[in-house]
Amino acid sequence: MNVKATLDHLITQTLHTLYPGEEAKANVQIAKNPLFGDYQSNGIMGLAKRLGRNPRDLAHEIVNKLKLDEIASKVEVAGPGFINISLSTKFLTYSLNSLDGQTLVSQATQPQKIVIDYSSPNLAKEMHVGHLRGTIIGDALARTFDYLGHTLIRQNHFGDWGTQFGMLITFLQELPEGSEHEEALANLETFYRAAKERFDADTQFAEKSRANVVKLQSGDEQCQKMWQRFIKVSITHCQALYKRLGITLTEQDMAPESFYNSKLANIIKLLDTENLLKESDGARCVFLPEFKNRDEEPLPLIVQKSDGGYLYATTDLAAINYRCQTLQAERILYVVDARQSLHFQQVFAVAHHSSLVSSKCSLEHISYGTMMGKDGKPFKTRSGDTIKLIDLCEEGVERAFKLVSGKNPDLPKAQREIIANTIGIAAIKYADLSKNRNSDYVFDWDSMLSMEGNTAPYLLYAFARICSIFRRAELSMDDTYSIEIQSTEERALAVKLLQFSEVVHGLTEECLPNQLCLYLYELAGVYMKFYEACPVIKSEGAEKISRLGLCQITARTLKQGLELLGITPLEQM
Ligand code: ARG
Repeated sequence: MNVKATLDHLITQTLHTLYPGEEAKANVQIAKNPLFGDYQSNGIMGLAKRLGRNPRDLAHEIVNKLKLDEIASKVEVAGPGFINISLSTKFLTYSLNSLDGQTLVSQATQPQKIVIDYSSPNLAKEMHVGHLRGTIIGDALARTFDYLGHTLIRQNHFGDWGTQFGMLITFLQELPEGSEHEEALANLETFYRAAKERFDADTQFAEKSRANVVKLQSGDEQCQKMWQRFIKVSITHCQALYKRLGITLTEQDMAPESFYNSKLANIIKLLDTENLLKESDGARCVFLPEFKNRDEEPLPLIVQKSDGGYLYATTDLAAINYRCQTLQAERILYVVDARQSLHFQQVFAVAHHSSLVSSKCSLEHISYGTMMGKDGKPFKTRSGDTIKLIDLCEEGVERAFKLVSGKNPDLPKAQREIIANTIGIAAIKYADLSKNRNSDYVFDWDSMLSMEGNTAPYLLYAFARICSIFRRAELSMDDTYSIEIQSTEERALAVKLLQFSEVVHGLTEECLPNQLCLYLYELAGVYMKFYEACPVIKSEGAEKISRLGLCQITARTLKQGLELLGITPLEQM
């Protein structure tokens, strides 16, 4: 049941009955101040303006016509022409009692085929903190779309085909085959750094590296073999990290840059037939009128270099074409760093100007800001190196272990380790997800591991505490508890619980997981107020059963919400 959508639908319908032919929307929102109601419709003012009517009069007219008896106990006109709606206790009681574990959230009414491109690191280097946000945010969105019943296709657009491989191959060629090769591959990070040093210092080496890229991309056997070995090691690293972080990407989701290699020539051909190509300094480019540089000169999207080589953008055009035509996506989401936003604007515009993609397919850059250190600079180690993601995970778990041991020194060590593992990883993920992805955010261990505030530990303990109520009372969380709402605190909790569905649906529009985090945090707060005001175990009869029911749905909602964010809560902590 989606209360907001239902109210929106009913009021909009009334608007259309009274004023057929007018473009009118109820625009129902959750009320900011619960004193004035639970929901508010603020679409009346716009309609009044168009009709030349007094908005309050119009709002009254609509309220008189509205039939919300089944849902609302109070419907009032307020301010300049808002309609405030308070849900009835009967409706709240009925709705909560008809929820079971499966129907906390209604399924999408129009399931879509959606491609989501996320994580997508460049290979031959271990994943570092720069990849963290895209991986975590993308995974939360993927889980949510999946859960709502959309057909979701994950795509990991690994960078596995660029110039860095020429450099690595050249460096490997210089080593004697056998154990030295094995050793080099076993420590890719060091190997990469050494190769890069060589590349920057030695022009002959750099020359040879560039030649090796061309050889690789045109199918030279030795280069291909070496390349494959790098890729294999690299992918093993990535998969291990995904496992550690609880990321749902698998090897089936890999569609790396090299996958599009055979399609690139055709992309150029198609752009050419559609008269979109222009030559500029020997390179082939697409100029679109909407893109200009700072001096107001036309800004090209280069799709083929003068030496015939293709670029990042060319591959992205091929990928769009594949996702739209072959995978039949209706919506393609790119969870990628904000610094690539011009790239995506240009690529999307070129795709839409050409026949590479159908006009119905929605292309969206889900961008995110940079992860900063406490010093206000991009997050690095003390010595200025980028931080490997795997090290970051280990540090999070170690810090969580200290926290858990301080809080619960008597728990057996093995159990503290399990809890620390959950908290450490959850803290890293949640800290990221709870910030608006559009802004940069400061990575700070102390605040993400705090037991207070909008943090993973706070929510994990809130969930575990509810579980312990049932455990101590020797009651099952799976039984049915009939709810009857009495007090204001129970009512507030009921209203909040019913909003879960609309919050989850809201995520599919703006793709902002921080909205779900905020909801869960607020839910935990409303629950705490209820718990303080309404004794559960000490109450009796129907009241006790009803309160247990509210605890049960709160626990289920917290659990489901955290799972959508990629966090599996523990029942005992
Ligand atoms: N590999 C790229 C990078 O690390 C990100 C790729 C994003 N996806 C895409 N289709 N361009 O910057």
